[in-house]
Amino acid sequence: MPRQIKLTPSTHVLRIAVFSNENNHKLGDKALGGNNQEYIIQELKSACSEYTVKADVFPLTAKSLKEGLNADYAIVRCATQECCDNLIALHKQSPLKSIFVIGAGVNDFVALTRKNPILKEIPIIRNDNQDIAEDMADFVLTYALMAYRDVGYYSDAKASKKYAPLELSKKSDFPVGIMGGGNLGGAVAEKLTANGFNVSIWKRTLGKAAGLKCLYGKEQLPEFLSKANILINLLPLTKETSGILKKDLFAQLPNKSIVMNLARGEHQNMQDIIEALNKGKLSLAVLDVIDEEPIPQHHAAWDNPKIILTQHTAAKTRIDRACRNHIEKILAFQQGEKISARVDLEQGY
Ligand code: NAP
Ligand code: GLV
Repeated sequence: MPRQIKLTPSTHVLRIAVFSNENNHKLGDKALGGNNQEYIIQELKSACSEYTVKADVFPLTAKSLKEGLNADYAIVRCATQECCDNLIALHKQSPLKSIFVIGAGVNDFVALTRKNPILKEIPIIRNDNQDIAEDMADFVLTYALMAYRDVGYYSDAKASKKYAPLELSKKSDFPVGIMGGGNLGGAVAEKLTANGFNVSIWKRTLGKAAGLKCLYGKEQLPEFLSKANILINLLPLTKETSGILKKDLFAQLPNKSIVMNLARGEHQNMQDIIEALNKGKLSLAVLDVIDEEPIPQHHAAWDNPKIILTQHTAAKTRIDRACRNHIEKILAFQQGEKISARVDLEQGY
């Protein structure tokens, strides 16, 4: 349920600095056609019509700083050094109460805080909108059902005019393992479970996600992998998870497994994926993300029939919803409430 936005007379102006750039290919923004600063400002204003949103466009100029331009909050859709320089200048002028990153993955921004440690003084909040979780769950369900109902087989059979119907598979032949049981992994687990798949989750800390018992930590990874005929990666990109989708991990999966990397290209070793596909260890790789985005023409993944490329669209940020999510959090913050999705800079997510 969206939060009821109430106006309190003493806090009816929200001063927000907005940082964005036009062509954030890594987050697929070009195709979204509306990530520019004016668009974000317009969405912020309509998310919060009862407040006066005083949003300023950046980068800052020396003149604007001299004139005392300041903000309480910053909303960031780009992680560049120029953006950090501006955030630091603003923060020195009057302390920022928090920085909201429009995006679920914050690996680029976390990397910048390591180079600009003063930013660690400011709470950093990411996007944990339910809409993107729903989009991600729909995406995974689509490809899991395609695998279970042999869609690839019948499309190849038609291309070669081969009439050879298969026996129907059972969903129990496709146990799913989800790496990461957070906002997205949890929603995917819920949707797949509701649709009859057997799901297990692997995460960093002990606990439950989507009501399921989870495996956790390096010790339980082999057990988790041994039952993951469909392996979904929804981990954040951190020091621990970078490059995790590689040869020795694939070796622990059942033969002919399907891998879906829906998190970051840096999680996967492309050579190892291609080799595992060639050897039949993997039967299909659904890659929403890839080492280089946009994918260059010469990339081997374009021509590989066992790789599906979905161009970083599995759960594209819906800027309007993200703005609404951040405005709700700003209002909660103003009222001293605890807000979700604060980034733990030590852990990197
Ligand atoms: P999240 O809520 O922060 O969840 C992260 C999950 O990963 C948590 O369950 C966490 O475990 C687990 N984890 C972290 N480090 C781990 C480790 N070393 N070993 C095992 N588990 C570990 O993140 P989210 O919102 O679900 O998003 C996940 C990622 O999806 C983002 O970081 C982003 O890169 C990607 N993404 C992709 C798209 C797209 O369109 N393709 C869209 C949005 C996001 P604990 O629960 O124990 O903390
Ligand atoms: C998209 O990949 C995001 O992290 O929001």
